[in-house]
Amino acid sequence: MGGAYWIFVASPELAVAFYQALNPQIWLLARYIHSRRAARTECYHDERMDQVNVGIVGLGNIGRGTATILAENAEQIELKLGFRLRVKAICDRRIEQKPIPESLGSVFKTKDWRELVSHPDLHIIVELVGGTTVASEIINAAIANKKSVVTANKELMAACGADIWERAIAAGTNIAMEASVAGGIPIHAVLREGISGDRIVALYGILNGTSNYILTAMERYGTALDVVLAEAQRLGYAEADPTNDIDGFDARSKLAILAALAFGEKITPSDIFTEGIRRLSPVDFEYAHRLGQTIRLLCAARQTEQGLILSVRPALISTSTILAGVQGAYNAIWVKGLYGEDTFYYGRGAGPRPTGVAVVSDLMRVAREIRGGSPERVSPFAHKRLGEYKPIPVTRQKRAYYLRFRVNDREGIISTLAGILASKHISLDAVLQVPCETKHDLPFVITLEPTTEESVRDAVGLMSKLDFLIESPLALPMEPPL
Ligand SMILES: NC(=O)c1ccc[n+]([C@@H]2O[C@H](COP(=O)([O-])OP(=O)(O)OC[C@H]3O[C@@H](n4cnc5c(N)ncnc54)[C@H](OP(=O)(O)O)[C@@H]3O)[C@@H](O)[C@H]2O)c1
Repeated sequence: MGGAYWIFVASPELAVAFYQALNPQIWLLARYIHSRRAARTECYHDERMDQVNVGIVGLGNIGRGTATILAENAEQIELKLGFRLRVKAICDRRIEQKPIPESLGSVFKTKDWRELVSHPDLHIIVELVGGTTVASEIINAAIANKKSVVTANKELMAACGADIWERAIAAGTNIAMEASVAGGIPIHAVLREGISGDRIVALYGILNGTSNYILTAMERYGTALDVVLAEAQRLGYAEADPTNDIDGFDARSKLAILAALAFGEKITPSDIFTEGIRRLSPVDFEYAHRLGQTIRLLCAARQTEQGLILSVRPALISTSTILAGVQGAYNAIWVKGLYGEDTFYYGRGAGPRPTGVAVVSDLMRVAREIRGGSPERVSPFAHKRLGEYKPIPVTRQKRAYYLRFRVNDREGIISTLAGILASKHISLDAVLQVPCETKHDLPFVITLEPTTEESVRDAVGLMSKLDFLIESPLALPMEPPL
């Protein structure tokens, strides 16, 4: 039937009667449209819940920071979201001893995390327990119960985050982990969204605040590492067991997460060559300065034609680079893209408040997605099919090197060392020696022209057997700017 009907009627019932009478096909179409609208409205009411409910497991440093921000900043958060983010339950194994901000209102408290992950009213579980055992159980149980998860757990996420993400996607829930790397710097958001249109070619980071605090104090005051470490522990900047921080493991987990995101590869901590800062001494800063350099625990991920080279290690960097200005417990990330070139991100790397902001901002994003019923999510890990480059051993990296020796002085030392370097086809660049009173423990430095890490390791292996050395030579790469 051609043409259109224009019908003015007093009531919907009358309209229905008209349509029915005029054409049964139009009547069927009208009924279909009506039923779709009704279904959509029902769904809308279901999804547009008045508030999104949150349960926090772990009320330690970060848990307390998160709860405080959610309490003190509740009004702003609600204004920004357009709905309420409500902390409905908190779990901690010593819950009775933990103060909970009053303005959060009535909160269900428990010592048993199982009660939280199965709580029917909760939409998001915040895991702030840390470690890889209980935390993993909490996150997996939350996903199994169709709850989204926000976590700050770099250790767990670096080790098995990609599998957790797969499980979350299959369950239709979300995982957010901004707080797991560089505390207050929103680097996840940057890599997942901000510069996701670029092709990343290199990423440098200072990702461990404790190490950076120690190194910059050594540099500034000429104090030995163990003295600065003891002071950092006294002030609460370093853990009683500092291994994770000063041996590079904490930074390694963070680099594994960032590199996976930046390069779209599945990267595990074992792909990353890791060396801590224990062997550094104030004299290394003295020599580094003479070379126009400083030393930082540098997390580096670089694309080469052969593959991705990943390392966490102390390295010399030019004092004129922006990274050299990163002092104390601050963190920074420098990213180079093929198209957008350099971008730099700087901020506090840890602490209850900066990390709490990252957790709360994650909560806000996940809550928005829950309310919007958004099925498409940006992976916080490697993009499954991107697979830019596979990690390759750091031994293939070519760099200029800094070799620092401590020797019992005698004649012929330089010629012996030069002979070993020549046997490995390594060219010596310069020999530096600052005045030193003692001949029994004399430090000096040899810098090398760019060569492979493999050749340097071979040469250092041979040198380590020499009887005039007090300890094996310290070899540090001299990283060029990005
Ligand atoms: N600290 C930082 O600046 C920072 C920065 C970025 C990311 N993170 C990450 O944030 C997470 C939390 O770190 P944090 O410094 O807040 O650690 P934390 O101070 O040790 O807090 C952990 C809390 O979890 C509780 N807990 C442990 N096991 C539990 C269990 N089975 N059930 C219930 N509660 C349990 C602990 O209770 P007890 O009081 O009884 O021990 C403690 O209150 C970690 O993954 C960490 O790597 C921390």
